[in-house]
Amino acid sequence: MCGIVGYIGHAKAGEILLKGMRRLEYRGYDSAGVAIKDDNNIVIEKKKGRIKEIEQDNIIAGNAGIGHTRWATHGKPSDENSHPFFDCDESIAIVHNGIIDNFVTLKESLEKEGHEFKSQTDSEVIAHLIESHYENDLLEAVKKTISQLRGSYAIVAIHKDEDYMVACRNQSPLVIGVGTDENMVASDVPAILDRTNEVIYLMDGDIAKISYKDIELWDETGANVTREPKIISWTVEDAEKGGYDHFMLKEIYEQPKAIHDSILGRLGEFKDVDFSKYNIDMIKIISCGTSYHAGLVGKYIIEEISGIPCMTALASEYRYSSPSDIYPFTILISQSGETADTLAAAKEARRRGCKTLAITNVLDSSITREVDEVVYTHAGPEIGVAATKTFTTQLIVLYLIAIQLGLKKEKLLVEEADELRNQLRRLPRKVEILLNNTDHIKEISKNILAKSEDIFFVGRNINYPVALEGALKLKEIAYIHAAGYPAGELKHGPFALLTKKTPVIGICVKDQTYEKMIGNIGEIAARESPIIGVAEEDMELQKLCDELVYIPDIQPLFSPVLVNVVMQLFAYYTAYQLNCSIDKPRNLAKSVTVE
Ligand code: F6R
Repeated sequence: MCGIVGYIGHAKAGEILLKGMRRLEYRGYDSAGVAIKDDNNIVIEKKKGRIKEIEQDNIIAGNAGIGHTRWATHGKPSDENSHPFFDCDESIAIVHNGIIDNFVTLKESLEKEGHEFKSQTDSEVIAHLIESHYENDLLEAVKKTISQLRGSYAIVAIHKDEDYMVACRNQSPLVIGVGTDENMVASDVPAILDRTNEVIYLMDGDIAKISYKDIELWDETGANVTREPKIISWTVEDAEKGGYDHFMLKEIYEQPKAIHDSILGRLGEFKDVDFSKYNIDMIKIISCGTSYHAGLVGKYIIEEISGIPCMTALASEYRYSSPSDIYPFTILISQSGETADTLAAAKEARRRGCKTLAITNVLDSSITREVDEVVYTHAGPEIGVAATKTFTTQLIVLYLIAIQLGLKKEKLLVEEADELRNQLRRLPRKVEILLNNTDHIKEISKNILAKSEDIFFVGRNINYPVALEGALKLKEIAYIHAAGYPAGELKHGPFALLTKKTPVIGICVKDQTYEKMIGNIGEIAARESPIIGVAEEDMELQKLCDELVYIPDIQPLFSPVLVNVVMQLFAYYTAYQLNCSIDKPRNLAKSVTVE
């Protein structure tokens, strides 16, 4: 899970690469490096740590080069394990994203041939393999190399005597930025947007020869292919913070627009998928992390609206589940569309004969090629590592899918579907109201949450997964231990942990569980834990809770969207108070492209 940038043209490659790499730091940031090529040699400058650690003075002038930001998988973060890597005589430099499963065997045989390795990484074998195949043609040498690799990769290679880069991918994303008298390659679009908005998405198995004026492509069969560039409408500003302290806060505030964009043109008939092609009596939703929590909420949404029974699974578990675990219709949720576990689950579901639908935020991401149907969330780029607006828009898409299925199954009357759509229409305004009233959330975060070491989040029914998500967000960015529970489960164990020092955030929405929830809050109050209620205005709760955060009135079915915004803000302002690295939490990266 790393960021790759390559440039070839007439400008100073070093500056362009570093700028592009900064925009990709969310993909990995434990080390960084560049390899710059001038007329007759290649010089590498690389360091453990953030991009700013790179010694700018050591970067030579040159008009071609490759850069990399790393998130360690094989070999600890160190200068030696940073990319790019040289071959033995420093003629070839490569950057790699992914994991080479058979690197141990390859390394052993290369060492027997006399190759000397300088790192503990799997990636370095690629440089030496290319060297072993090189006969005055870098493209051919890379082709021979990848035929020996097992695993996932996005690779970019340069040679000191060749005036082109070679880029190839298998299960790791790579895009080519098409410029005028210059071309780029990167693992993600923000890295190239400063210089061009025309991109070619490489497919698995593709290999590209990129010079400053030409781009030639071959697909996995070896056939010479043409792929039309797509115009990216994201501006560079879209990928920057837009005046907020952090990307995460910017992205939280973008949610009214993200919801609006995600329902735009979809509130009449939802035409993204023709569900009449499928016989859907049961659904399985598979995903990881925050997307898994969206899937859990989705279960309640789909069952309530369409009447179709729905199960959920974590992608990392589903992959190894019994082959008899077959749900003919499977939904995979992944904001990045690149999460290795979810991709593997998508493949496995297909292998088991299921029809598959992906919900993703990233156009042409890898998952879109593994499924029968794709529904995009239109959240725009999400740079903060913690998923916020993508979670919200995943829920929006799940409502849209559920309404369409409800109509198909004749569980919903047309007027009932219209009423649900009206609720969706009103959501952006309700989120806006919430976002305009954050003072109390900031106070609670500062005075209670930031001073605590353990925090419980409880909810029932459709808001139980929101409690899980609230706890995950807090752990992830504020580094405070938190646990989400269905409120009815506290008495089956966790009660033992409740003290004056363990605040409990209780989600109290006026659905069929409301009275039970009030009872649970009373039980918690008896243990003297500080209680922070998240609810619509209510006299009874005022007596039981130490603090209350109000959400605008809402139908319970749609309440997770509002309640979760409160959870995001609790996590954000607590982390802010504790001076945490909010956009790039320690040990985490935006898209987890390794299993
Ligand atoms: C948490 C978070 C992660 C992701 C998970 C799945 O804030 O962002 O838990 O939700 O890694 O990522 P995607 O949705 O890209 O498959």
